[in-house]
Amino acid sequence: MQPIRNRRHGGWLAGLAAVFLFGGLTAGAALPDLLIADFESPTYGSWEVRGRAFGPGPAAGTLPNQMRVSGFKGRRLVNSYHGGDDTEGELLSPPFRIERPWINLLVGGGGWPGETCVDLLVDGAVVRTATGPNTKPGGSEALEWRSWDVREWIGRLARIRIVDHRRGGWGHINVDHIVQSTRRLEAVERTRTFEVTARYLLLPVRNGAPKRRMQIRLDGAVVREFDIEYAVEQPDFEVFADLTAFRGRKLTVVCRLPGGPEALEGLKLADELPVSWGLYREPLRPQYHFTSRRGWHNDPNGLVHYAGEFHLYYQHNPYGIQWGNMHWGHAVSPDLVHWKELPVALYPPRYGDWVFSGSAVVDWQNTSGFGRGGRPPLIAAWTSTGRGECIAWSLDRGRTFTEYEGNPVYRHRGRDPKIVWDRHRGRWVMAVYDEDKGSRDVLFLTSPDLKHWTPRGRAKGYYECPNFFEMPVEGEPGQSRWVLYGADGAYAVGAFDGEQFHPEHAGKHRLWHGNFYAAQNYSDAPEGRHIQIGWGRGITFPGMPFNQQMTLPVDLTLRRTPEGLRLTARPVKELESLHREALERERIGLPFDPETFAGLALDAHRIRLTLVAGQAEKAGLRVRGVEVVWEPGKGRLVCDGLEVPVPGWAVKDGSLALDLWLDRGSIEVFAADGAVAISKGVHFAPDQRGLEGVAEGTGARVEELRIIRLASIWFPENG
Ligand code: FRU
Repeated sequence: MQPIRNRRHGGWLAGLAAVFLFGGLTAGAALPDLLIADFESPTYGSWEVRGRAFGPGPAAGTLPNQMRVSGFKGRRLVNSYHGGDDTEGELLSPPFRIERPWINLLVGGGGWPGETCVDLLVDGAVVRTATGPNTKPGGSEALEWRSWDVREWIGRLARIRIVDHRRGGWGHINVDHIVQSTRRLEAVERTRTFEVTARYLLLPVRNGAPKRRMQIRLDGAVVREFDIEYAVEQPDFEVFADLTAFRGRKLTVVCRLPGGPEALEGLKLADELPVSWGLYREPLRPQYHFTSRRGWHNDPNGLVHYAGEFHLYYQHNPYGIQWGNMHWGHAVSPDLVHWKELPVALYPPRYGDWVFSGSAVVDWQNTSGFGRGGRPPLIAAWTSTGRGECIAWSLDRGRTFTEYEGNPVYRHRGRDPKIVWDRHRGRWVMAVYDEDKGSRDVLFLTSPDLKHWTPRGRAKGYYECPNFFEMPVEGEPGQSRWVLYGADGAYAVGAFDGEQFHPEHAGKHRLWHGNFYAAQNYSDAPEGRHIQIGWGRGITFPGMPFNQQMTLPVDLTLRRTPEGLRLTARPVKELESLHREALERERIGLPFDPETFAGLALDAHRIRLTLVAGQAEKAGLRVRGVEVVWEPGKGRLVCDGLEVPVPGWAVKDGSLALDLWLDRGSIEVFAADGAVAISKGVHFAPDQRGLEGVAEGTGARVEELRIIRLASIWFPENG
C-alpha cells in the first residue's frame, strides 16, 4: 500500500500550528464539546423571546402545514414556522464565553440573509451569520451543519440571535444543537490531486456516514462521479476504484466533507487489493456462492457463455454496501463455480445515468456489423436510466464494451431488456419490462440487427427483469416450449409466434421460493443447457464490506408432470468439484439428538437425504439451529419458517428427496429432484454448528444421508 504523497505533512503541520495558536487551550483535539443549546426542553429557558414566530418553546419537529423537518438532533428544535411563514420574531441567548475554536450548529429553512438567519454577536455586533438553504418553492426542510471559525474571539463574551423577519415563501428558520467544539462539522469542498502511480484508488467507507457526492476529475473534466459514505474518520472498510485507464495521469478527487483539510487523507493508491483486508477471507464470506469483492450487488446481468467462459455481469454499487451508483460489475468462470472478478464492464457515462439491468448475446452472424475479421461481437443490452434501452459491443471477450453511437435503441417507460435469438424466424427478440400502457407488461420487440427494434406483442402482469427463452420438453424429442417470467420468477409456459406469447395455461407457476429475484438464463450455454442464476435478494452479511449473494447456478429442465409442464432446477453438476470428505449413514430414525453427529462443525456443506415421514406430521432436520422440515399432511416444506408447497407428484412412496446447500449466510433447498427450489438467507449463530433430527409423530426416518463438506471457491487449494 502506498500513501498518496501530498498534503500528509501539510495536514500534520497545520495541526501543530493550531496547537501553538490556541496555546494551552488546545492541549489536543481531545477537549470536550461545550453545549450552548440543544433545545430539548419545552421552553426557551433563559433565552429572550420576541414576536410570535418562535412559538412558546422549541417545536417537537415538524409544525402544521410544514414539509417534513429532518436532520435535527433529539426531539425538539427551534422552528419559526409557528403561525406559518408570515409570523416574525427573534430569539436571543444569554451571554456565554467563547472557549473553543469552532461553533457548530444545525441550520435549515429560509435562505434570506439578515431576515431568516442566526447570528453570532460579540460586543453587540454581528460577527458571524448563517441562513438556511432555501429561497425557491420546493427545496428541503433538512437541517445541515454550519461551522463558525471563532478563534479570534476566544475568551470573549458572545450571544446568539436567531432571526425571522421574513414573510412569504421560506419565511422561517430552523436551528438546533449549538455547540462549541475543537472540530468543524460543516462540509466544505475538499480536493486532493495525485498522480496515478498504481492501479487502484482505495476509499475509506463508514456505514451510516452521510452520503456525499464525490467526483474524480481529469484535467477539469469529471471522469467518475458517485455517492459514497466516505469515512473522514473511523472507516469500516475500504472500497476501490480501478484507475488503470488513467495510469500516469494527474487526477483530482473533489468532495464536500466535514473536518479539516486532511479530510481526504484516507485515500490511498495500491496495486493489489491488499491482502490485509482479508479479501474473500471475511468471517461471513459465502464459500461457494458468488458475492462481489466489495460493495453491493443485485441482479445478474448479461449472462452469456463465450469462448469457454461463463460471464456474470451484475448490478453493482462499487462504493458502498447499499443499492446505488449502478454499474455492471463483471466476473468470469470456466465452470460456473470458480469466479474471477474482472474490472467493471459498464460505467455510468455520467452521474444519474445509471447502468440498469439487461442481457448479453453473441452475435454469431454479425447481424449488427460490429464484428471484425470473422470474430463475432458480444452485445450487451441494458437500460440507461438517462436515455432508454442501449447496446454496446465487445471484441475482447466481454472485457470492454463500446457504446453504439445510435443509442438509445428504444425509448419508453420501462427497463431490463432481455435479448434472445428466435431461431424459427432468424431474428432477435427483446423482452423488456414496459409501463407505457399504464400497466405492468412485458413488451416484445424484434430486430434484424440489434439496432433497429419494432414493438410487437405484450404480456400483461409481469414486473421487471423479464426472462424469456425456448427449451425442449424433457424426454420428448422435437417438443419445445417458451417460458416467460418476471423478476419474481413466477412463470408461464406456452408458444411464441414471433410477436406474441401464448401461455398454454391460466395463472403462473412457481419453482423458486424465498430470497430469489431477477434470475436470468445463459445465452449460448454449451450443450443446449438452460443454466439459470438469480439474485438472492435480501441475503445480508452484517458487518461485512459486501452485501447480497447470487443463488447457485442450476440447470433448468421442462418436465412433464401429472399437473402439466413444470420447470425443475438442479444445481449444476460442476459444483461436485467442491465435494470433499463425506459422512454417510444408511438409515437413522427421527428424531435424533445432536450427539449423533458430535464433532460435526457445519459451515459450507451439502446435505443429501431422503425423508420418509411414516405417520409423522413433521419430519426433517435442524441444521445449525435452523429447521428444514417436511409436513406431508400439509403438503409443504418449511425452511426457517418459510412455507413452501410441495406438489403431490413430487412425493414418491411417502418419501421426499432433499438436497440442502449450506453456506455462511444461507440455506438452499432442492426437493424431489429439483421440483421445488428454495433460497433462504439465514444469520446463523456462530457457535451452533451441529445437526439434529426433528420429528413430530412416529415412524419418520432419514435414508441415505450424506453430509459432504464443500471447498471454498475462492481458495480451493486450502479446502
Ligand atoms: C430489479 C431492478 C431492475 C433494475 C435494477 C436496478 O432488481 O429494479 O428492474 O434494472 O434492479 O438496479
